[in-house]
Amino acid sequence: MESLLPTTKHRRGRRTARQRAALERPSSYLVQGPIPDLSSVLDGAPVVLDVGFGTGEAVIAYATTDPSTRILAVDMHTPGIGDLLAGIEERGLTNVYVVEADVRPILTQAIPEGTLMGVRTFFPDPWPKKRHHRRRLIQRDFADQLAACCATGAVWHIATDWPDYAEHIASAVNSSIYWQGGIIDRPADRPVTRFERRGIAAGRAPIDLRFIRVLP
Ligand SMILES: C[S@@+](CC[C@H](N)C(=O)[O-])C[C@H]1O[C@@H](n2cnc3c(N)ncnc32)[C@H](O)[C@@H]1O
Repeated sequence: MESLLPTTKHRRGRRTARQRAALERPSSYLVQGPIPDLSSVLDGAPVVLDVGFGTGEAVIAYATTDPSTRILAVDMHTPGIGDLLAGIEERGLTNVYVVEADVRPILTQAIPEGTLMGVRTFFPDPWPKKRHHRRRLIQRDFADQLAACCATGAVWHIATDWPDYAEHIASAVNSSIYWQGGIIDRPADRPVTRFERRGIAAGRAPIDLRFIRVLP
């Protein structure tokens, strides 16, 4: 079976001392394995998937304000994994599980059908050049794969500060028969993340989108 990522061999990238220390300490909240066993994460409590959490600011904020919901946080950028693991430890959180992997095989191989109550994808890589648009994560096939992992009524909250990506997301996700929704006002409780701050500094306004998993 295809390996998701070399989970014992972290990916490249410069690391701070805090990130390095967190990556070197064993953590019961880092879920590893070629096909990670998520049974302890998905065993009853509501689970929300955070796709591409970056440094994990939003994950930490939501996990702190809503301790009864588990967050399955998936990203493949090792320094950010270190930040999130450090944040989990510093705040004593017990409801965050971190997977270092590309989320796409996680959806098709590790998450059973209908288990997620929600999904968050904040500021996915925009790939602004037209010739790179096909590298954008959110496409109709991705929406279909994600839908298979979600319970009916699950909410997918997306934010981007690239208007043409927002348009693409609205069209691609609504073209999946499993999702309905579109642009919404920025929810007041969505934490401001590093990438949002960067966009605002560059003059880009965030655009939030919300989709509901519906029965086809
Ligand atoms: C622009 S950053 C946004 C981070 C964070 N959500 C925020 O708002 O600050 C996009 C993140 O998505 C991650 N990412 C991109 N493609 C991914 C994939 N296929 N699976 C998991 N993570 C991915 C990147 O490593 C990066 O950390």
